Amino acid sequence: MTNSTHFGYQTVAEEEKVHKVAEVFHSVAAKYDVMNDFMSAGLHRVWKAFTIAEAGIRPGFKVLDIAGGTGDLAKAFAKQAGPGGEVWLTDINESMLRVGRDRLLNKGLITPTSLCDAEKLPFPDNYFDRVSVAFGLRNMTHKDVALAEMRRVLKPGGKLLVLEFSKVWEPLKKPYDLYSFSVLPWLGKRVADDADSYRYLAESIRMHPDQETLKAMMQEAGLERVRYFNLTAGVAALHTGIKL
Ligand SMILES: C[S@@+](CC[C@H](N)C(=O)[O-])C[C@H]1O[C@@H](n2cnc3c(N)ncnc32)[C@H](O)[C@@H]1O
Repeated sequence: MTNSTHFGYQTVAEEEKVHKVAEVFHSVAAKYDVMNDFMSAGLHRVWKAFTIAEAGIRPGFKVLDIAGGTGDLAKAFAKQAGPGGEVWLTDINESMLRVGRDRLLNKGLITPTSLCDAEKLPFPDNYFDRVSVAFGLRNMTHKDVALAEMRRVLKPGGKLLVLEFSKVWEPLKKPYDLYSFSVLPWLGKRVADDADSYRYLAESIRMHPDQETLKAMMQEAGLERVRYFNLTAGVAALHTGIKL
């Protein structure tokens, strides 16, 4: 029997979700960075800067960036980990990974890359000092499996960082909904000639677990000292947890 799941507001078979998510990111890859700046008025850079600061990467660290896409986090981590470090840029989507890998190479950063599913990571147990996933968990079919995999590959004492859209502060909900369901698809159409992918973005954010639920899921996956930071009134949140 095929299990069903959500793709935005639609209920679909699990395999169909994987294909639909792949279509979204094949479609947006070339315009992904410019759209991010447009959509968030540059705020995604602030959220990522906060994540990078919380990661506390030191020279020589081994770091895994999951669903790394066009490589914003991996780029910063690779600079901080230095030549003695090992920073992996990984993603399930070839189009996104290609853009990310080329961007890093153009900056003179030669990092290993791997086309892989967060739910089946091709890395040994207890290997990384830090694991990060930014705006990726929302798209995964079995978030519990992916979180368990992230914990598995962390060294004892290592830290997981999950940056994701979250539940916005209630008084901002109406204007945020108006922006998400009217302006976003319009921008998507104008800038990337793709309204549907940005409609999926708005819907998938609404279907994603809120701050407390994600915290409980991380604890369930065996992470300790789990906490979160609301960013821009909860438009996004950074969750962190330690493997003890
Ligand atoms: C919104 S992009 C985020 C890219 C980048 N981390 C950033 O913050 O700009 C989401 C990424 O998640 C990836 N993704 C979706 N499902 C995945 C999975 N199961 N395993 C790994 N990556 C996945 C997509 O291919 C896409 O590149």
